[in-house]
Amino acid sequence: MFAKQFRITLEYDAVCLPKDNFAEGAKAFFTSGGKGANVTLPFKLDAFEMADVLSQRAQMAGAVNTLSCLADGKLQGDNTDGQGLVEDLIRIIGDLSGKRVLLLGAGGAARGVLLPLLDAGVADIAVHNRTQSKVDELIANANVQNVYMATEALIDNSVFDIAINSTSSSVSGDLPSVSDAIFKRACLAYDMFYKKGDTAFMSWAKQVNKEINVSDGLGMLVGQAAESFRIWHDRMPEISPVIDLLRKNL
Ligand code: ATR
Repeated sequence: MFAKQFRITLEYDAVCLPKDNFAEGAKAFFTSGGKGANVTLPFKLDAFEMADVLSQRAQMAGAVNTLSCLADGKLQGDNTDGQGLVEDLIRIIGDLSGKRVLLLGAGGAARGVLLPLLDAGVADIAVHNRTQSKVDELIANANVQNVYMATEALIDNSVFDIAINSTSSSVSGDLPSVSDAIFKRACLAYDMFYKKGDTAFMSWAKQVNKEINVSDGLGMLVGQAAESFRIWHDRMPEISPVIDLLRKNL
């Protein structure tokens, strides 16, 4: 659909590789003329390890979801997941400058979105997770002043504009264990997980705050694909028509 927007002819197909040998399959793809590849779970770390050159955001994420063959034959690894989230947040609420973000979860998905959110101008990111040691690790790894732990005081005072769920709790219909004060003054509750209908996190946010915008992560999925397309074709496609079509087919 992106290629059609620019009348570009291309082939884009899914390739299934053996779990224990990503590198060989990926090399074969590029040797046979492949120009770029999106990489999904469980291969994002393998792609990170095999890339010859890494973008700053791939380094910060510790994972690669976009591989590109450079003119000199080297493989460039990038990570567009966080930018996909940023594109979608802007689509929903506009400018992110000065916004205070609560990030639930401290796994790979959380790690990948820190830098792009900061680059988009958010004021700060407070992180909350079931396992505290992972929060400490994430914050130490980010090593910037405005990424810190979500203290009880911050949560109880409802200081956040945007609450983002990066945990995999919604996969099983569970909720992260945190006070519902997180939604009281927020304008958006965003779940990175997506499914037909509201996720558990979205329903919870709506119950607590009738005014709040809610969204699942389908737009993030399309947004990360759009950013990959931009890397390969130097043109940024429209994401809304693609989100609408996918939504109809969920
Ligand atoms: P991903 O790459 O999707 O982030 P991950 O690195 O395995 O996957 O991280 C999963 C995140 O979801 C973690 O923050 C995890 O919390 P723990 O660090 O305590 O394990 C969180 N998570 C998963 N299931 C959860 C649940 N039912 N409730 C709350 N947090 C959950």
